[in-house]
Parts: sequence; C-alpha cells; structure tokens
Amino acid sequence: MRKIILDTDIGVDDAFALAYAAKTQNILGITTVFGNVPVAQAVKNAKLFCREIGLDVPILRGCSRPLALPLHANATDVHGSDGLGDVLDNPFDDRAGNAVDFIIETVRAQPGEITLVAIGPLTNLACAMNQAPDIIPLVKEVIIMGGAFGTHGHAGNVTPHSEFNIWKDPHAADQLLSSALPVVILPLDVTHEVQISGEDIRELNQPVLTAISQGYLRYSLEKEGFEGMALHDTLTISWLNHPQWFTTVQSPVRVVTEGITLGQTLRKLTPLASRYDPFAHCRAQTLCLAVQATQVKQAFLHSLRLVN
Ligand code: RIB
Ligand code: CA
Repeated sequence: MRKIILDTDIGVDDAFALAYAAKTQNILGITTVFGNVPVAQAVKNAKLFCREIGLDVPILRGCSRPLALPLHANATDVHGSDGLGDVLDNPFDDRAGNAVDFIIETVRAQPGEITLVAIGPLTNLACAMNQAPDIIPLVKEVIIMGGAFGTHGHAGNVTPHSEFNIWKDPHAADQLLSSALPVVILPLDVTHEVQISGEDIRELNQPVLTAISQGYLRYSLEKEGFEGMALHDTLTISWLNHPQWFTTVQSPVRVVTEGITLGQTLRKLTPLASRYDPFAHCRAQTLCLAVQATQVKQAFLHSLRLVN
C-alpha cells in the first residue's frame, strides 16, 4: 500500500480508478485538473464521488488549461456533460485549495514516500515541478495513464497518433517525461486490453458505479459495438497492486508538441544517437506494453464487488 496523491480530471473511468484506489492504497489527497470536464466540474465531481464511496480526503483545485495550447473541447460526449454520466445531483461547490501547492508541500514534508498517480492531463505535475524543482528527487514515483506506442495497433484514441491525456497538454507531458522524475507509463497499449462489460459492472452490486457508467456504455455500444469500458485509469492502481502482471520496457520518452501528430508519445527505438538526438539527456522511463488482462480484470472486479 502506497501513500498516493491522485491527480484526476474525474470522469467515469477516473471514478472507477478512485474507487479501486480507495480500497487498496493510502490516498493522501485528490488534486483535480481540466480534461474530461473543466476543473471546476472536476472539483464538484471529486467531492460528490468521495461522498458516494465514503472517502474523506483533501480535495484540491488545479490547473484550468494547458501550459501553452488553447483549451480543447472536453470529453463530455463520452462522460456526460457533468463528467459522471449526468445521473447524480451534485450539491457541491467548486471551491478548493491549491492543488499544485498541495503536491509540493506534501512531497517536501514526506521525502521519498509520495507516489503521484496522474490519470488526466499532466499540467498540475508539470507546474509543481517547475515551481519547485527541489521536489524532483523527493518524489518516490510517478504513475500515469497516458500515451500510446502502437502495440496491438493501439496508437491513439483522440487522433490516430495521440491519447487524450497527453494530447490535452503535450507540453506538460513532454516536460514531465523528459525530466529526472521516475515515471511508470500505462498507455493505451495495455489499457485497451483490459475491458469490462456492462454485465461485469452490474455484477459489482455498486449502484453508483452502475449509474454513472450507463452513458459511457451506450456510447461504447454505439461507436464500437461493445457495451463495455476500457479500464484506462484503473490500470495505474492495478500496476501498484500487481506490477508482476505487466511486461515493461525501459526507454526515454518524448512527446510531439506540434503538427499533425501533436500529442504522440515517442520512445527511443534504436541505440544510435543521431546527430540531433531528441532523447539525449532524457532518463529511461518504464513503459507497460503488455498485461495479463484476465488477472488484472478479475482482481479489480473482486476488489470492488459488494457481496450481499
Ligand atoms: O485516454 C484515456 C484517458 O482520457 C482517461 O484518463 C480518460 O479518463 C480520459 O481522461
Ligand atoms: Ca482521466
């Protein structure tokens, strides 16, 4: 069990990851960021969902837009206009403390002990690193859901070559991944391999998870002919619980920040350092490129299933 700060743009699959983290990790705080929904809505959603699962932890408000790009559209087509399937009344306000300050202060107070788990755009983490570079050697590990490297054809979900979290703020992602921070990456290569069905969700006997996922499942059925959901964000928690079920490679990673493949994540494929090597001075990061999907799925469902 790790001490984690969960950084999230809390949409539907983020909520599933949060429910799993609440059962298996020590959550010190939830920092919110724009992404699936505007950051103000993410604050409201985090407050609401924590009430629904009985989780009492600090909730903080983070960045409202990318470092350099204009704010792209949200993902309300998938997650609903409120980000949680438009099925729950949300009485909460969007006021909260500063997420970047919380990350910095928590890491400084507990050097070597804090794992940052990021399941949305990486803007908060990049700002924390820029504002307080002294925390870089103090962070235990960074675990992100993001990116795509083409395994099994999984190269992108928002463009043919880019994954949503990275695409939303490629500059933040490139700064983080090319820094000295140790990052474990859960890309589409593995997250698309772990799918749960509407029936799996209903069998959890968790009414709030069943309710918030209905719209997501309808979208999936219409667009992909499958009433299901990839456990994108959940796999960051699955990694913390069962790293042995993942096959990894070590490689420096850079992110394309302009042009038709904006948001694409690139790993170093050849040992040759070209005349201009964009990977020079970048540390190797840990990329999860294969997963024992059945074990990961069953462990997740077993952990969340409410036995009457
Ligand atoms: O590409 C999947 C990611 O984008 C997940 O974090 C999901 O919540 C969306 O934000
Ligand atoms: Ca997310």
